[in-house]
Formats: sequence, C-alpha cells, structure tokens
Amino acid sequence: VITRVRARQILDGHGAPAVEVELHTNKAIHRASAAGSGALEGAAADAAGAAERRKILAKVVADSVRMINDKVSEALVGMDPQEQSQIDQAIMDLNKARHKAELGVGANAMLAVSIAACKAGAAEKEVPLYKHIANLVGKSATTLPVPAITVINGGKHAGNGLPIQEIMILPIGAKNFEEAMQMGSETYHHLKDVILEKYGSDSCNIGDHGGFAPNISSISEGLDLVIAAIERAGYNGRIKLAIDVAATDFCTGKKYDLEFKSTKKSGQNFKTADDMIEIYSQLCSEYPLVSIEQPFDKDDWEHSKKLTTLELCQVAGDDLLMSDPERIKRAVNEYTCNALVLKANQVGTVTEAIEVVKQAKDAHWGVMVSHRSGDTEDSFIADLAVGASAGQIKAGAPCRGECLTNYNQLLRIEGELGSEGVYAGENWRTVNTS
Ligand code: PGA
Repeated sequence: VITRVRARQILDGHGAPAVEVELHTNKAIHRASAAGSGALEGAAADAAGAAERRKILAKVVADSVRMINDKVSEALVGMDPQEQSQIDQAIMDLNKARHKAELGVGANAMLAVSIAACKAGAAEKEVPLYKHIANLVGKSATTLPVPAITVINGGKHAGNGLPIQEIMILPIGAKNFEEAMQMGSETYHHLKDVILEKYGSDSCNIGDHGGFAPNISSISEGLDLVIAAIERAGYNGRIKLAIDVAATDFCTGKKYDLEFKSTKKSGQNFKTADDMIEIYSQLCSEYPLVSIEQPFDKDDWEHSKKLTTLELCQVAGDDLLMSDPERIKRAVNEYTCNALVLKANQVGTVTEAIEVVKQAKDAHWGVMVSHRSGDTEDSFIADLAVGASAGQIKAGAPCRGECLTNYNQLLRIEGELGSEGVYAGENWRTVNTS
C-alpha cells in the first residue's frame, strides 16, 4: 500500500522548475517527474520574459509541492498502487477542489504523482512498467514504436530563420528499434557534416530538441539537407521524413507569416491557409514526407480537415487537440486530422492518457506519444509508447539527456522482450487500431 507521497522542486531540461514526486509503499520508493513547460501556457506567462516566466513557474511548482505533501499524500495513503484508475480519480477530485479553492497543483504535478503510482503498481505486480500499462489498457505490449527523431530545429525552438519547429526522420525500414536508432544517429551525424560543409561550423549549433539549427529559411532547404544526410548514410528509401510545423506560432490573423522571426520582412511570405495547403502538397510530392504535425493554427479546423481529406500523409494534431478528449471527439467526427500527438502532461493522469489513446485507436488514427521541449529525465513515455502500442514516439534528437532517456529505455525494453518484440516499422500508423 501507499504509505506517503513526497514532492520536491527539481530543474527540467530548460533549467526551469519542475516537480519531482516520490511515492512510498511499504516495499519501496518510486520516483517520477514531468516537464514544467505546460504550466507556462497561460496568457500571463506568454506575455512575460524568460526570467519572469521562470519565477511564475517556481511559484506554481512551490504551490504544487505543498499541495502534494499535504492534501495529495493524505488522500493516497492506504491505497493499493495497482488501482491506477482509483488513484487517478482521487487526484482528479483534488484537482477539481483546487480549481474552486485556487490552490495550485499544475497538470505536470498531477501527472508526476500518477506516474509514480503507476511505477509502484508495476513493482507491486512484479512486472515491467510497460507490461503494467498494457494490462491497464487491456492489450498485450510487444510493439516497439517507430522513433520520430528530430534532426533540424526551427520555429520557436531555434534562433534561425526556419519558420517550422522541427524536421524529423522516421527509420521505418529498420528491422528493429535498435537498428532504427543506429540509422537515426548515423544520419544525424552525417547531417552535421553536410551542414558544416555548406554553411560553416557556426551553423552546427543545436536547438531546443537537440536538432541542428542552421540559418536556413525555407522548409525545402531543410529537407534537402536531411535527404543529403540520409543518402550519405546509405539509408535512402528506408528513412521517411516528418515535419512539425507548429503553425499556431506564426499565424497572424488569418495568414501565416513564414518570416515571423525576421526583423527585415520581404512582405512576400504571408501565406493564406490555402497557400499552405499548396506548399504541403508540393512537399509531399517532392520528398518522402509521411507526417505533418500542426499544419495550421490551433483553431483552424476547416483547413486541417481540407488537408487531411487529401490523404497525402499523416496529419497529426498537437495544439489542435491539446490531448483533450472533447477536441479529439470533434476532430474524429469531422475528420480534422488522422493522428494524435499525445502529450501526457496536457491530459493530467495516466488513466486519462490511456483513454485518449483508445479514442484515437478506435478512430483508426495514428498515435505519436510525445515528450515536451525541456523535459525532465523521466523515461515514462517510452514505457507508455510500448504499453499503449502507440506505434510512434517523438522524443527529440539522438543527443541530450532528456531525449536519450526515452530512446535508451526503449532499447532496454526491446532487449527484455527479445524475440517477442516487434518493431512497428511499416505499421507505424496502424498498430492495434480496432
Ligand atoms: P513543446 O514542444 O513542449 O514546446 O510544446 C513539443 C513538441 O511539439 O514537439
């Protein structure tokens, strides 16, 4: 049984305050943490500078730590950690009370408690975490996801001129996860050479997810660099491409400002949503581009649907869905996108994360389990991706501790599963869809 829950403030991958939880049972202590960035998403935080945001976050985290040590601990003591849904219900009830009393437990803090309980539940059952999650889902867990590995950063995640947030590589043609990571990291290192030769050594700095951030300004310039790296690595045809446009960040009114980071605007690069559809169609015909994440503003349901119905590639909803069951329901009904980007700290608890994965799978959608930028070193999403048979995981570049923690955990899981393990490969969008 749970004997005590304790929290403390730690630092996440952005060097910002985050919550770490230790959940004690009569047998062991289980530790979990979740990224702090989600708490920065309010309008007040958006308007603040970086140092000020850090202060706001420190206050949210301090309030959460107090709340966990006091009310959450009191509510969970005596519960069986295997009863994930009851534990999560207790956390949610407290959170509802919090909204009324304006006490502070951020979604990240709730998730950290829920994850710590999940780890304790697995230990209690004496099974690996991914197997315990699969039990909670009600399916078996043997599928290793295809990693969507970040290789170029742009958008708000880098200081270069590239408007879109990320270019990723998907080693779909690998025979297993280990080979996928090898192909990914070799390509990443070839990309460094390609960039170095073309733009010089000061272009090899890296952005928020560990991707390179050369000072390019167009999507095709970035994709050309990545294609050159794939060719040099000898993986032509076996690695596909994905982009995270994060278009909400450069939508101004009804237009998309492809020069939003430039101080000297040419005025030629304000695109309508229909222009953007043209651009995406062109890219899909010229490159092995198989997934586009958040191609329009978060509330542009109409154009996202228009693009999805063209069936050019996977259209993955990030801010469009916010991992929110109501928004997912609407998107399923209207066919606004065909894949879920699951950010567990937006949902709040493990139980709710599992529910939204089911919702997406029932709709025959793809599921991309995602980290947050500046995440902590907790590798829970790796186990979640296997346990929920997601088929896809997005955890940044093959460098930086907070990214590698997930990829390395997946290598361990594959080793543990042995011949039972299956790499999602070509089935990356359809694993366990009903
Ligand atoms: P975010 O980015 O955590 O800054 O929202 C994560 C992603 O979309 O890749």
